[in-house]
Amino acid sequence: MRIGLLTSGGDCPGLNAVIRSAVLHGIKSHSDEFVGFRAGWKGLIEGDYFDLTRQDVRGLAREGGTILGTSRTHPYNHPGGGPEAMAAQLEHHQIDGVIAIGGEGTLAGAKRLADAGLPIVGVPKTIDNDLRATDYTFGFDTAISIATNAMDRLRTTGESHHRCMVAEVMGRHVGWIALHSGMAAGAHAILIPEQGVTMDQLCEWVEQVHSRGRSPLVVVAEGFIPEGAEEALAGKGADASGRPRLGGVGEWVTQQIEDRTGIESRNTTLGHIQRGGNPTGFDRVLATRFGIKALDLVHEQAWGDMAALRGTEIVTANLSAALDGLKEVPADRYEEAKILFGR
Ligand code: F6P
Repeated sequence: MRIGLLTSGGDCPGLNAVIRSAVLHGIKSHSDEFVGFRAGWKGLIEGDYFDLTRQDVRGLAREGGTILGTSRTHPYNHPGGGPEAMAAQLEHHQIDGVIAIGGEGTLAGAKRLADAGLPIVGVPKTIDNDLRATDYTFGFDTAISIATNAMDRLRTTGESHHRCMVAEVMGRHVGWIALHSGMAAGAHAILIPEQGVTMDQLCEWVEQVHSRGRSPLVVVAEGFIPEGAEEALAGKGADASGRPRLGGVGEWVTQQIEDRTGIESRNTTLGHIQRGGNPTGFDRVLATRFGIKALDLVHEQAWGDMAALRGTEIVTANLSAALDGLKEVPADRYEEAKILFGR
């Protein structure tokens, strides 16, 4: 078979490991040929691609980013997009199947196109870990490891100055990154989109910690909804796919703490550092297994399906199952973390 790969949406450590394993499995097991579409759906729409050989994927499992490039190009709204035109491109370039590696937006596009008859399978990726139908997405573990390391550093400088340190992390509308990195770093309070916490409550936790001589560490997810607000802070306009760009709540929370408690406080927004650099061992393995599974799905012509992790098994899931709402942090996971907040 001649198979096209694309990476779309925000990048994420592990994308290259998927590309490597799918290409190697295809070449070794089936004598497949591969092409890589540049910059997500844009490359497929515009017929912009390059051949992917065994040489091209050598040593790629450890590399961050994506050798294909990515973009938030919408497969329907972009000029030249839509199922008929894209099917014609695939036919023209004799491509028998496409592996689309992406998050919620990308997989929603893949599902629509597969329903319209295009030969597409999916691989779920996102640091946010917000996709249903898979226990974990690769990129999440790396983001946790980076954020935890940064918070460990915030704690030493915080302790030296006896300040309250606030760390704002990514995650869009779910709190998985905040919950896991905050727990790992021993945060004294964690604020996530799924749970309302008043500033009175937060300041009580902060004061309890400060009054016993410690430097409070507060972790806030970018999607946390401040009390009295209808939605998360998003003062930076929209991204290329029209989604609001979140961020800024860390500064707001920090100011609230300082104003209400008088404790000197500082905010650090970790931002894209969480998505950069080499994947962890866990993410390399997960991404490699997803790539192998995706190649199998192409040979099964399981269009509209994706690779998923259930427990320790790699399984097939329909794309619709992954897109049936966001995978939010359950209330009991938050209650468990909350036992260690404050005092
Ligand atoms: O979905 C991954 C993610 O990193 C989110 O956590 C964040 O809100 C968003 O992407 C940032 O997107 P961009 O790279 O377009 O600024």
